[in-house]
Amino acid sequence: MTVSNNNQHDIVDLIKTQLSITDVVSKYVDLKGNSRLMKGLCPFYPENTPSFVIYPESQIFKCYCGSCAGTSGGDIFSFIMRIENINFVEALNMCAELAGVKLNNYQPKKVKSIKKDLTHALESAADFFKNSLNSRYGLPATSYLKDRGFSEKKIKEFNFGLSPTGLSTLVDHLKKVGVKSNSAVESGLVQKWADNTWHDFFVDRLIIEIRDEDNNLVGFGGRSLNNKTPKYINTPQTELFNKSELLFGLNLAKKEILKLKECVIVEGYMDVFAAHSEGFNNVVACMGTSLTFNQLNKAKKYADKIILCLDSDIAGKRASVNNLIKLINSHDNLSNIHKSIYIASIDSGKDPDDLIRQDPSKWEKVLSEGTPLYKHLINNLDLVYDLTDNNQINDAANVVYKLVFQNTDSHSQDQTLSLLSNKLNINREKLPTPKILNRNLPPKPISNNTNGKQNPIEKHIIALILQNELLKNYIREQSNELFDDPKLRAIFEILKTDDDIESINDDILNEIILDLKSFSLPETNEKDLITELNDCINRLYNHHLKRKKI
Ligand code: UTP
Ligand code: MN
Repeated sequence: MTVSNNNQHDIVDLIKTQLSITDVVSKYVDLKGNSRLMKGLCPFYPENTPSFVIYPESQIFKCYCGSCAGTSGGDIFSFIMRIENINFVEALNMCAELAGVKLNNYQPKKVKSIKKDLTHALESAADFFKNSLNSRYGLPATSYLKDRGFSEKKIKEFNFGLSPTGLSTLVDHLKKVGVKSNSAVESGLVQKWADNTWHDFFVDRLIIEIRDEDNNLVGFGGRSLNNKTPKYINTPQTELFNKSELLFGLNLAKKEILKLKECVIVEGYMDVFAAHSEGFNNVVACMGTSLTFNQLNKAKKYADKIILCLDSDIAGKRASVNNLIKLINSHDNLSNIHKSIYIASIDSGKDPDDLIRQDPSKWEKVLSEGTPLYKHLINNLDLVYDLTDNNQINDAANVVYKLVFQNTDSHSQDQTLSLLSNKLNINREKLPTPKILNRNLPPKPISNNTNGKQNPIEKHIIALILQNELLKNYIREQSNELFDDPKLRAIFEILKTDDDIESINDDILNEIILDLKSFSLPETNEKDLITELNDCINRLYNHHLKRKKI
């Protein structure tokens, strides 16, 4: 069902007729009662006797527990906003999806006009970057691209650009063409430094346009041209740019993917460009992030077969198997599409870019020899689980069951069990029994922190700030919730204030602070520090978003 009319009231009413509050809430709360009144335990605060009430006839909830004290209540949307900690538009979208109502890009007017301003900023910057690549200052960058196998024609076709070496050349240009200063900042192109001066985000980098599947410009990637680290910086999270929801190159590849019904996902920008240069036009990139469910679904929209050609060295492989396991554990729906997913590995450890440029037929061979996802998972269980430990064997087997057993025929189940019994070296009849899959319970949040280990990005951020006081100015608006680790979160909270970090009275925190103060970090200038901080926060933010959405 599609709502062609963007009137918010109509949409809200329509969703309410399609979705019962009891069904929605019972995904989070165990409800008991009758058609007039249902009761359960408050989902917002701990309590022992049920005070959370649903009135199905009026489609509202109210909570009378000691903590809520009758203050929380409302309709489906208020419930979803509160429990998922999201805003109204996000809740509307989520409920629409649950109700099977398709929104025609419903967005409030204000969001639309903000997006228009950001697009204007980005398009102006794109022209500016292309002009500077075409100017005489662009010669070294052009010859870099030519050395990497790009013809003049391809350089134009792929819209490469160059950000100049000056610190505020884009700032000046954007002012000149009438881009508002807040749009320049919110588009991720310009940053305000602590001394209240404005600076370009991309300085002295080869610029790659990042477009969404509908060909809207949403951000840029910037590759260092002189081995400066990081190799790439990307537009930080903005209203338009969310790395974990984008497949780079889908705008270019969409047509071919639809034609072939096959989509190849690689890691990098340069892999996509190499593939498209050699006529493999169904290739897109996840831009180095752990592949997300959202990205897989995006590919599935156009393709019957998805081939992942990700890092094949052992560390990369472990990370990607780990990520697949997280996806399986947190998304019941992955079992619907798992049969479409194949994993292709380049044994030589080369990038697709190298391989394609060297010998396109080898690339075709690699793709044709892809392994189905479930086999790849079983083959590589030992990269993630200790298969000498019974509990871990149990977990390993259950991930496989969860992926394969929810909707397959007995033949593939049989095949899976044979493979698994081989891998685990356990007779088929002695394989662990599947845990009951309870679809009504909200899935477990994934935490990197279950083994008490701190997330390295969290540690890195704290070390950066402890060692560079000026960065304190850039974190004040950030939520403490970005941090999984309670101790690092507490330190972050103190760093956001003007309190003296030296004078805190907590031995455990002091020990961590001392440790991170001497944590070895690469030497960088102020500009790169801010970029690095933003990039790390961005990664944490994406990771956090991913968990929130699950
Ligand atoms: P790669 O290091 O494989 O980059 O990272 P690449 O695209 O092959 O580039 P070349 O060939 O070295 O020039 C894969 C992807 O990971 C992201 C980028 O999207 C990159 O294309 N990445 C990598 C970053 O965002 N930042 C980095 O510092 C490195
Ligand atoms: Mn590469």
